[in-house]
Amino acid sequence: MTTRYEQVKAELKENPKTWLITGVAGFIGSNLLETLLKLDQTVVGLDNFATGHQHNLDEVQSLIEEEQWKRFRFIEGDICDIETCRQAVKGVNYVLHQAALGSVPRSINDPITTNKANIDGFLNMLVAAKDEAVDSFTYAASSSTYGDHPALPKVEENIGNPLSPYAVTKYVNELYADVFSRAYDFKSIGLRYFNVFGPRQDPDGAYAAVIPKWTAAMIQGEDVFINGDGETSRDFCFVDNAVQANILASLADSKSKAQVYNVAFGEKTSLNQLFERIREALKENGVLYEAKPVYREFRAGDVRHSLACIRKGAEKIGYEPKYDIGGGIDVAMPWYIRKIS
Ligand SMILES: NC(=O)c1ccc[n+]([C@@H]2O[C@H](COP(=O)([O-])OP(=O)(O)OC[C@H]3O[C@@H](n4cnc5c(N)ncnc54)[C@H](O)[C@@H]3O)[C@@H](O)[C@H]2O)c1
Repeated sequence: MTTRYEQVKAELKENPKTWLITGVAGFIGSNLLETLLKLDQTVVGLDNFATGHQHNLDEVQSLIEEEQWKRFRFIEGDICDIETCRQAVKGVNYVLHQAALGSVPRSINDPITTNKANIDGFLNMLVAAKDEAVDSFTYAASSSTYGDHPALPKVEENIGNPLSPYAVTKYVNELYADVFSRAYDFKSIGLRYFNVFGPRQDPDGAYAAVIPKWTAAMIQGEDVFINGDGETSRDFCFVDNAVQANILASLADSKSKAQVYNVAFGEKTSLNQLFERIREALKENGVLYEAKPVYREFRAGDVRHSLACIRKGAEKIGYEPKYDIGGGIDVAMPWYIRKIS
């Protein structure tokens, strides 16, 4: 049976649209770009290279046909500047707003800078998209919005108190999106990503995410640090699933808008299990890592367990994640080995 995602992709190929991806030089943004250009869409990309890289864009270019690359226009600019946002949304059908400063620890060290990009920048994009009357506005929300709510799995309606400045910013995005739906009838969709991973996720820097950080450490024969006892768990979501959710959300009917959806696989993996999975995947690719992980203090602002219920997305927008953590790691490992070795 054809899935909703396959149907939507066929429709888009038949009747191409114009998309804006903010944060296009980042991890998720560049994966969105690759998929959309492969579907012969026209794409405008906006990024200020705060955490994104030209080499992500170069890699996408190397993976697609020349004709497809010609349908991409890049704007180097900051979402904190409203005029830049207005320029970027001109003539666009669908906005995928990914630009933000990620990382809980970064926001704890520097809440003001995180606030600027994630709240001021978000509001600029929302206003620019509303004024341009785009067909849809889909934005990167976050599982951090569940904060200290103890229930598992996480269902969209039940959230707790935020545990970090980053979580506050992502929750404020949802509040603004909700108010814009009521005050201006501008209906968007928020995708609460749960630990997305995959090719082009940055392994470098103090704020790298766990999978690229550990993979890089193992490839380079360095220590792998586990914060806490290793029984902390996460619902790791391969980036292809997140791309699917964005495309489905953009083409959702208006009843399914003005909503937030969990974007995850719906399975939890402890950090200890993750360590073994990465080690195994590297071994299958000829990279041996024999050392044991080094356990250290729990990290401030981290939630203990995270697991999503993905039923709402399945029912309303036809979200059916294709890759579980193992499938995603199998795709991602050869990429990391190529990049890091
Ligand atoms: N990766 C995850 O697991 C995860 C989980 C929850 C939410 N998110 C959210 O998803 C989005 C994408 O995250 P990612 O993992 O691809 O991170 P990333 O850092 O790779 O990408 C973010 C991109 O936004 C750009 N950017 C930042 N501030 C900007 C500004 N002021 N103007 C223009 N561009 C700016 C960066 O340069 C970068 O290219 C973010 O909104 C993030 O908060 C990610």
